[in-house]
Amino acid sequence: MPRSKLVRVAVVGLGAIGPVHIEGYKQCENAEIIAVCDTRKELVKKWSKELGVDGYTSYIELLKREDLDAVSICTPHYLHAPMTIAAAVYGKHVLVEKPMATSLMEADEMINACREAGVKLGVIFQSRFAEGPRRIKRLLEEGKLGRIVMAEAIVKWFRSDTKYYHADKWAECWRGKWSTEGGGALINQAIHTIDLFQWFLGDIDHLYGLYGTYTHTINVEDTAVAVLKFKNGALGVLEGTVSMPREFQETKITILGSSGYVVLEDREVKVLKIEGEEVKAKEEKEEGVKETLKVRPNLHALQIRDFVDSIIENREPLVNGEEGRKSLEIIQAIYMSSRTGQPVKFPVKPLW
Ligand SMILES: NC(=O)c1ccc[n+]([C@@H]2O[C@H](COP(=O)([O-])OP(=O)(O)OC[C@H]3O[C@@H](n4cnc5c(N)ncnc54)[C@H](O)[C@@H]3O)[C@@H](O)[C@H]2O)c1
Repeated sequence: MPRSKLVRVAVVGLGAIGPVHIEGYKQCENAEIIAVCDTRKELVKKWSKELGVDGYTSYIELLKREDLDAVSICTPHYLHAPMTIAAAVYGKHVLVEKPMATSLMEADEMINACREAGVKLGVIFQSRFAEGPRRIKRLLEEGKLGRIVMAEAIVKWFRSDTKYYHADKWAECWRGKWSTEGGGALINQAIHTIDLFQWFLGDIDHLYGLYGTYTHTINVEDTAVAVLKFKNGALGVLEGTVSMPREFQETKITILGSSGYVVLEDREVKVLKIEGEEVKAKEEKEEGVKETLKVRPNLHALQIRDFVDSIIENREPLVNGEEGRKSLEIIQAIYMSSRTGQPVKFPVKPLW
């Protein structure tokens, strides 16, 4: 248990998303950043100076610190499992970026390592903390849409071959490869929407998936589709791509029930119809975690606050390892189905 309810954290990986975690911890009065870590010396120098904290280029040296309670892991996908397991061995709580791992076996080892060590494991899915998705979750739990008939998740994004996958030598080290990114459009970009999709609709019975690489020079998929049957009987369709021209990008979930219909675009409820009720897509005053914050929140800050509170209150984070694993299971099932030409039944038996 951390001293005087202050959770002492280190942010590991100071690339694109690491600074967002730093900002989140700065907004959280129960947390204190005591160190940063990256293998790139210039980033360690920059952030340790800016925050006035210790900087590390060796992750294991960082973990040896006895006054450290938790780490935020913001490194490339292939490092999530070994870094989480090492943190658990050293008795540190872990908040790991999505996807939690590149395979289900890794995810299971992470969950087990953290359980055995008695440390918390949180997986970043910040969209679950936004007001629109939380409202849809409530509506579904209350059964307002009736029996769910059909649902659709669409992630049509753009990622540049030259400015993203091959932006520089570092990007080329890990992006666009099965061994390091663990996949492409699904595991890196569409995963947020896939997470919401299963959070809204529940367990899947089976799915059929297909993927391919069409507009990028990468090994992993830039486009994928799946049709699914949920355990509740509803039918689902999923589309994910990073080949959409930038000006036409779209992120959308639609859910059709026997007594209602809802459309979530980006993270906002755009259409909401409930039989026999006058409802507005945009609520005048929406409830949610937002109002409990004193400072203007970003979604990472909300999830970081929940993670810190879960340590102090000794409870599970809202998105724990088991929750973080669910979208990965769907993605792995789509990859398996496409490779074998067969439907995949849930729960998926990890093959790698
Ligand atoms: N939640 C979101 O919306 C969101 C957005 C962007 C990225 N991400 C996720 O964040 C993670 C990182 O992505 P990114 O875009 O910031 O990548 P990035 O490549 O910009 O940054 C990764 C950093 O990790 C460092 N690193 C590599 N090996 C290391 C090691 N052994 N020890 C310490 N540091 C090491 C690199 O030097 C780099 O600075 C990925 O899992 C990605 O999917 C999440």
